[in-house]
Amino acid sequence: MCYNKGTEINVEKGVDNMKVIIAKNYEGMSEVAAKIIADKVNSKPNCILGLATGSTPVGMYKKLVEYNKNNEVDFSLVNSFNLDEYKGLSGDHNQSYRYFMDNNLFNHININKANTFIPNGKAENIEEECRSYDSKLAEYGGIDIQVLGIGNNGHIGFNEPSDTLSVCTHVTELTKTTIEANSRFFSSIEEVPTEAITMGLGGIMRAKTILLLASGSQKAEIISKLVTGKINTKIPASLLQIHSNVIVVVDEEAGALIMSNDNKLAVSIVKN
Ligand code: GLP
Repeated sequence: MCYNKGTEINVEKGVDNMKVIIAKNYEGMSEVAAKIIADKVNSKPNCILGLATGSTPVGMYKKLVEYNKNNEVDFSLVNSFNLDEYKGLSGDHNQSYRYFMDNNLFNHININKANTFIPNGKAENIEEECRSYDSKLAEYGGIDIQVLGIGNNGHIGFNEPSDTLSVCTHVTELTKTTIEANSRFFSSIEEVPTEAITMGLGGIMRAKTILLLASGSQKAEIISKLVTGKINTKIPASLLQIHSNVIVVVDEEAGALIMSNDNKLAVSIVKN
């Protein structure tokens, strides 16, 4: 599949491993991202997908459903591991990430649900749940391509800004800004869980390819920091700068600050 929407910018200076694709709009971002995933599944039918929730990847999932219906991609042998789950929500809660994945993707494609893994937010022994999630991931051989969104504060999965970051899957307290940001999906802010289970930086960084998506002007600043800033645990996504194979797909609004003339990092612009 070819990517016929968007402008591709290769970034120099220490982050030459990061390919940035700037699509015209949300639709274009979703299409580019879906084609990257579909290409991966077509080239490796039993691949391990690392999947993300949030509003950003919804359009990409819609495209993948469409490609699957048109027989352009077959998910029957695919396994998937999701990044995170709210602690305390069961899979049938309409704000759980299991519910999100079932409704946005799994129920509409030919994936075997038994091969889709998401941490259990209601596990009795939550520490054990975290350890077994990592063991299962290791047993399956790690992630081929990890989809990521990004929080306005630079979180990936639910790895929140902090003095230190965790390698393994763990329980984390959500920051005030994340609780506020995610309260839009709940009827009141009090209903937003204050803790979550999240894959750690180890699980994410071991993925062979990272595909990070962002859309909208509210993400422009954090995308600029991700691409051009220094590595800092207060911006967990900045660690991706040391991953060897990162594709960042943004729309023009989210890419606004890295496209500006002042920004010397955008070196070669290839119009597709
Ligand atoms: C949530 C998820 C992240 C997601 C982020 C951004 O808190 N845990 O995986 O990337 O928020 O969400 P959105 O795409 O809605 O901006």
